[in-house]
Order: sequence, then structure tokens, then C-alpha cells
Amino acid sequence: MRVTDVSLSAKNPATLAVDALVIGTCTTSDGLAVIGDQLPTELARHFESVAPTLGLTGAPDEVRAFPAGPDVKADVIVLTGLGEREPDNTFTPESLRRGAGAAIRSLAGSKAVAVALPSADETELAAIAEGVLLGAYAYTAYLTGDAPAKKAPPVTVDIVTTLGRSSKAKTAVDRAAIIAAAVNATRDLVNTPPNVLYPASFADAAKAAARDVKGVKVTVLDDKQLLAGGYGGLVGVGQGSTRPPRLVKVTYKPVGAAKPERSIALVGKGITFDTGGISIKPSAGMAAMTMDMAGAAVVLHTVLAAARLGVNVAVTAYLCLAENMPGGGAARPGDVITMRNGTTVEITNTDAEGRLVMADGLADAVTDGADTIIDIATLTGAQMLSLGLRTSGVMGNDGGAVRDAIVTAADTAGETMWAMPLQPELAPLLKSDFADLLNAPNERWAGMSIAGTFLREFVAKTPWAHIDIAGPAFNEKAPYGYTPKCGTGVGVRTLVTYLESL
Ligand code: BES
Ligand code: MN
Ligand code: ZN
Repeated sequence: MRVTDVSLSAKNPATLAVDALVIGTCTTSDGLAVIGDQLPTELARHFESVAPTLGLTGAPDEVRAFPAGPDVKADVIVLTGLGEREPDNTFTPESLRRGAGAAIRSLAGSKAVAVALPSADETELAAIAEGVLLGAYAYTAYLTGDAPAKKAPPVTVDIVTTLGRSSKAKTAVDRAAIIAAAVNATRDLVNTPPNVLYPASFADAAKAAARDVKGVKVTVLDDKQLLAGGYGGLVGVGQGSTRPPRLVKVTYKPVGAAKPERSIALVGKGITFDTGGISIKPSAGMAAMTMDMAGAAVVLHTVLAAARLGVNVAVTAYLCLAENMPGGGAARPGDVITMRNGTTVEITNTDAEGRLVMADGLADAVTDGADTIIDIATLTGAQMLSLGLRTSGVMGNDGGAVRDAIVTAADTAGETMWAMPLQPELAPLLKSDFADLLNAPNERWAGMSIAGTFLREFVAKTPWAHIDIAGPAFNEKAPYGYTPKCGTGVGVRTLVTYLESL
């Protein structure tokens, strides 16, 4: 995909000869207001006075384009709603990010764009840059003819800011570009069709993505090594497919630091397609299960972004890759498997495969000596039943210490995550008559926390958090703000922000 080129400009936006100039609007008690003095005053007042006729309110995701007229050099003015102001008259970084993203999304196919939204400080400027770069995403790998060009994001975007080109402003925008690139690369992996992205090709993609990143090492365990190493979860889930499983470890160590203070493990679910296996899913909606590797894509691109940003902690991503298919070799309900850490598991439902592959990754993170483990997975439909399509569930051990730190990082990063409990009454549901655990109890309620409780068995005493992104990873509804259809890349911004906070 073409990457939009973002630069900063301190010029008067009315003087910029661009295809489109993006201006913010907001909702006030007197109706719509055009924000700032970015437009000639007459023109701004004119937009405000005709807003009721046009049905414009300044609400989030309200994006409308107008011919610019003679007083502005741009061809078109795009008004993008930022919603209501905060009590201190500013806009939250997230409303700027969304407003910028929605406007840029509407400008697919155009060449030069300028964005003049209010940026009082570097945080606001970075949010605008992130929104621009996240909105400038299109997955066009399998379109032919002129379709890719029509969907392609703007070639250049000038962000107009009174912060000019100070070094602080530049640093903030550089960070935004690294993070947005990681999110967009995650989206690309999620959107890659499942016949193209399978465990071995995912492992190759991880190696290719890490090639030029300083301080990063990739190791791949193939199916023979997984069998020999006793990775019963990955082997058991992968054995119904002709395309065998992989465990990929991507390690970053801060360059120069003799001994980094901390070492963090990020474990991601990488089911490249989830048919459910022998406990097969209904065909309606099954195609969406191409996204069941989103967690693995998130941890891969998080560790690479962390390396590019030079965070001060060691980070290892564990990509637990398998395809859950019902082939002749597939695991059956009733099978008992032995996991990497020796725990035996009775498979009661082959569609609860995520927790099986994750268990092996978590167990390795423990033996590799991680002092904190965070896992991220499209683990349960129950996540969507409890929190909806846009809010990820976060669970953890250790009194919720890591869980709460993740929720805080999400709040800072502009992702929506919510702390959920692992209730003590759930653990007995995982008792099996024949093995140490069963993978899916016959229980209707609290499915997200039951899955989290299962994973907890594999982290020993290591402080740990589990993020269930089943709904938020993949947007099957209309695009909104900077969020496209299909792969969203949710989790990268939170995890990078968390790593930076250590
Ligand atoms: N990958 C699914 C979870 C999922 C469902 C993610 C829908 C995104 C959208 C997972 O492997 C699964 O099938 N979970 C089962 C577990 C059950 C069998 C205990 C579920 O949630 O129904
Ligand atoms: Mn499943
Ligand atoms: Zn799954």
C-alpha cells in the first residue's frame, strides 16, 4: 500500500494550493461553529449561518465537502465534526484523531490535502497526525484495474499547525508515524485472505517485517520442533489442517543496554482461519474467521514499533500460529492433550482452540523468564455479548495490577478497553474427570472470563493481563473515524503506550 506522506506547515491554510483543505467544526449551544481562524472570517461565519439549512451540527463523523470559492486557494473545503468542546474549550486527542481520520477517509483518490485542525500542544498534534495516517488506509492488494487508485489514500497531507516545525513537534509526529505504520501493517495481515496467510507464510511475513529493524531477532519453531518440544496445544489445534502450525518468537533488546530493567512477553493468538474444527461453526459468518490471527499480528507489529521507538524494556512477541480445520487428522472432542508446561487438557470443544494455542505461548513466556506477560486474542464471542463491538475486555491476575495498567494505557492511546473480573467461582468449571483441565465447560455465562481463567493456569505466578479483542479487531460494520472496515489493528496503540510507560 502507498504510504501517505505527512509534513508540517505553519502557513496560512487559505494560501495552500491543495485539492482539499480540512477544517474542524464543533457543536455549541448556538449550533455549529467553525473552529479557529483557519478560514477567512466571512467564509467561516457563512458556513455557520447556513449550517442549519445544510443539516450540519459538528457531530463526530459528520464530514461534508464544499467548493472552496475565491478566498481560499484549495479547490475544496472539507468540514469534519469534532463534537463538543471539553469544559476547558479544547478537544480530546481522540476527537481530533477521529475527526482527522474521518476526513482523510473521505478523500480517497485525491492527491494533495491540507489539514487545519486545532493543535495547542504536541499531544494534540500527534493525535491529528495519527488520525490522518490511520484514516489513510486502504487494503487494495487484490483489486485490479483502476480500482486501487480510486481507493488509494491522499498522496500528501500537510498538517497546518501553529507549533510550526519545532523539534518537539517533529518528534511527536515521527512517533505517530511509527505507530500508525504498525497499526496499518497489522490491518494488512488481518485483511490478507486465509488462503494466502497461513502459519508458515505468516512466519515468513514476520521475518520479512523484522529484517531491517535494529535490535530484533526472529526465531521460528516448525511443526516438527513443536511436536518434539511438547507443544500439545499448537500441535493439537493444527493437526486438522494440511498447513502445519508454527510458533514465532520476535525478540527486541534495547541496543546498548547491558541489562534491560524489565522483560515483557506479548503473546498473540494466531489462528489463520477458525472453522471451529470438528466442532464446526455454522457457515453464516464463518468468513470473518480470517481475522482470528489478529492478536499475533498485533504483538508482531507492537514489538517492531517498540524497537523503532527504542523503548527501554526488552520485549518478546510470541505468535501462536495454527489453522483450525476439520481434516482427517483433526483433534476430536474427547481427546486429551498435554500442553507445553505438562498440564493435560481434555478437549470438550474443538472450537475453543484459541486458549489451547495461547497456553503453549504463555508457558514458554514463563520459562523464558518474562517478568510481565500480556496476551491478546480474538478469544470469545462472549466478549461481544458483554462489551459490544468496540470495547475490548481486559482481565488479569495479581489483583489486576497489569490489567489496570493496560486499561490506563488504552485510555491514553485512545483505544477503548474495560477491566473485567476473573471470578473465583469460574475455576471449578474447568475441572475435567480425565485431565487437569477441560477447555470449554458446558456453561452459558461469563464465557470471556472462563477463557481468561483457563489462560491464567498457564502463567504461573507471573504478573499477567489478557486482552480479548474478538469484536474490536474486525469491523464488519461501516467505517467510522479513523477505523476502516475489516482489520482495525486494535491493541497496537495500547501496547506500545504501555511499553513506553515502563
Ligand atoms: N475465534 C473464536 C472467537 C470469536 C468469535 C472471535 C466471533 C470473533 C468473532 C473462538 O475461537 C471461538 O470459537 N470461541 C468460542 C468458544 C466456545 C466454544 C467455548 C465462542 O466464543 O463461541
Ligand atoms: Mn474457535
Ligand atoms: Zn478462534
